[in-house]
Amino acid sequence: MTKIEACIFDLDGVIVDTARYHYLAWREMAAELGFNFTIEDNERLKGVSRMRSLEIMLEVGGITLDEAHKLELAERKNRDYLSYIEKMTPNEILPGVIDFLNSVRSKGIKTAIGSASKNTPMILDKLQLTSYFDAIIDGNKVSEAKPNPEVFLKGAYELGVSPSNCIVFEDAAAGVEAALRGGMKCVGIGQPENLPGANLVVPGFDHFTLEMLHKV
Ligand code: BG6
Ligand code: MG
Repeated sequence: MTKIEACIFDLDGVIVDTARYHYLAWREMAAELGFNFTIEDNERLKGVSRMRSLEIMLEVGGITLDEAHKLELAERKNRDYLSYIEKMTPNEILPGVIDFLNSVRSKGIKTAIGSASKNTPMILDKLQLTSYFDAIIDGNKVSEAKPNPEVFLKGAYELGVSPSNCIVFEDAAAGVEAALRGGMKCVGIGQPENLPGANLVVPGFDHFTLEMLHKV
């Protein structure tokens, strides 16, 4: 049995369902560019960086653009996305998350965020969750995107915990791969068929307890 000393949480799709806001913003941009971007297409963007998300969206529409134009579109999409994020409240924290954070922290287990999102500080602020984490590693602090393990390894390092004593919570396949490549355990949040390799998959934190943590 591994002694778990730290929990590292992905943000989008694990702590809060921001995928629908990303979707609204990308869909609107696709419509302006003259094509339909479906909710199934949006699945491909989970865990993927902002620029790579844009490239996938353009691929769906069969559109090729130069780098400057792509940067402009990525910025515009983010402004649109932030208009949704600005209205977020703690009510949007996913079920069971606060109870789980409180229970692990009460046992002295450290907590960190490991997210690709450059909007992490603002989202945590809107959810009033910033103080629940001992370390916050986000898209502003890493140079390699998931499935590279950099984001989680930096989290473990900042917490002063060996990767083998960390457990990662992830809703994206790329994130599960990143955790395993970093030598960590991984609990998938979602459906098992979408999260190959995860040590355990649960639908959400309302299905996961402190007792289960050490058995993963
Ligand atoms: C990930 C999301 O957490 O963050 C992706 O799953 C998103 O969909 C990525 O593209 C980057 O987010 P942001 O907020 O920096 O545009
Ligand atoms: Mg995610």
